[in-house]
Amino acid sequence: MDSFLIEGGTPLRGEVQVSGSKNAVLPIMAATLLTAETCVIRRVPDLSDVRFMCRILSSLGAEVDFDGSTLTVRAANITSTGDYDLIRKMRGSICILGPLLARLHQATVSLPGGCVIGTRPIDLHLKGLRCLGTQIRIDSGYIHATAPELSGAMVFLGGRAGPTVLGTANVIMAAVLAEGVTVIESAACEPEVVDLIDFLNAMGARIQGAGSPTLTITGVRALGGVEHEVIPDRIEAGTFAVAAAASGGEVILRGARPDHLGAVLDKLQEAGVPIERRGGALTVGSARALRPVDVTTMPYSGFPTDMQAQLMALMCLAPGTSILTERIFESRFMHASELMRLGADIGVEGPSAIVKGGRPLSGAEVMASDLRASAALVIAGIAASGRTQVHRVYHLDRGYERMEVKLEKLGARIQRVPGE
Ligand code: EPZ
Repeated sequence: MDSFLIEGGTPLRGEVQVSGSKNAVLPIMAATLLTAETCVIRRVPDLSDVRFMCRILSSLGAEVDFDGSTLTVRAANITSTGDYDLIRKMRGSICILGPLLARLHQATVSLPGGCVIGTRPIDLHLKGLRCLGTQIRIDSGYIHATAPELSGAMVFLGGRAGPTVLGTANVIMAAVLAEGVTVIESAACEPEVVDLIDFLNAMGARIQGAGSPTLTITGVRALGGVEHEVIPDRIEAGTFAVAAAASGGEVILRGARPDHLGAVLDKLQEAGVPIERRGGALTVGSARALRPVDVTTMPYSGFPTDMQAQLMALMCLAPGTSILTERIFESRFMHASELMRLGADIGVEGPSAIVKGGRPLSGAEVMASDLRASAALVIAGIAASGRTQVHRVYHLDRGYERMEVKLEKLGARIQRVPGE
């Protein structure tokens, strides 16, 4: 397994191109199953999760071609059962359920496992699909779903932690070819869901309310092929913004969408980080005096859970006490103990982490545990003095396109050490 070797203490300076969004492209890739015609998707990030999803689509019988940036899919002759082993290994693949039901009226997919950040239930996905007329049987770790006739219905998708992003995606993709009208209440409003809706409407779907908690979907008879460019990745952009601030440098984020980053930019400015919007770019500098902040993660447009670990790394550098409260996932503080190995002072009390920041960080060997926790450790390693080795960076490769290459171009002293 590869690791990153980082010599900290160098300010990041220069310009970085933001890649396409992982969390937008995965459901969009699933949506290509809804038509037998060719779909061309541009600005696709070259990530292990994307390559995994390509293999899943191929295992279903789709013709898939990915050159590292443009993806072409033609799902002319597909089956309803994919490669279980692949589907089991990537949670995001759960969103093939809706399109397979809409297209083939049946699907067999493995129950996604939990992961280090939480149990990751799919009860809301199944509730929504049942409302549309799907029979669900769960047997030996697999979901067997059949829907001879999908009919529009009223679906409330709110859960204990608010809306579900991929649950909303699944129900939308089952409803677009259903008979009649579906109304989804408490739908997810994330930009990635809006991008999926834009993709589906371009295919000929009739979906209203994108970005709002209420979606109205009028079923149509068939969908066609489409060309689409994926939105930029707001979490990658936010991650590089925090890295710039933590390093004491200044970075221009080319291609970022400030309108997708409201809560993140607001919180960084509250911490004293200077941010400028110039033309199509976002320039993020470093605070003369970093201030501690409190944050609670919320559904969009609140502060995103996927930025909580990165902000925690920055708050380790801010003199004073910061409280970060995680309201979306039940155990998303794995990065805290690893940050403490770099000298951070963090106490976890239930859903909150209390960071006593301001002590200088010094390099150490640390272990990545999940995608965003790994990003937090890289940020802390860049800010720390001395050498940090981040092990198991395959977690990072799932969601960041050539992260070490982009950081090195900004002046970070970072190198990938091939598999131990
Ligand atoms: C998506 O996961 C993202 N992944 C996650 O990003 C992101 O953290 C999450 O949305 C929240 O924004 C992709 O888009 C591939 P949810 P998803 O269903 O859809 C509970 C990253 O780092 N819930 O919105 O799986 C759930 O337990 C990843 O890029 C139910 O209770 O998340 C959680 O507490 C991590 N029942 C909350 O809802 C359900 O049926 C939000 O989960 C579904 C979810």
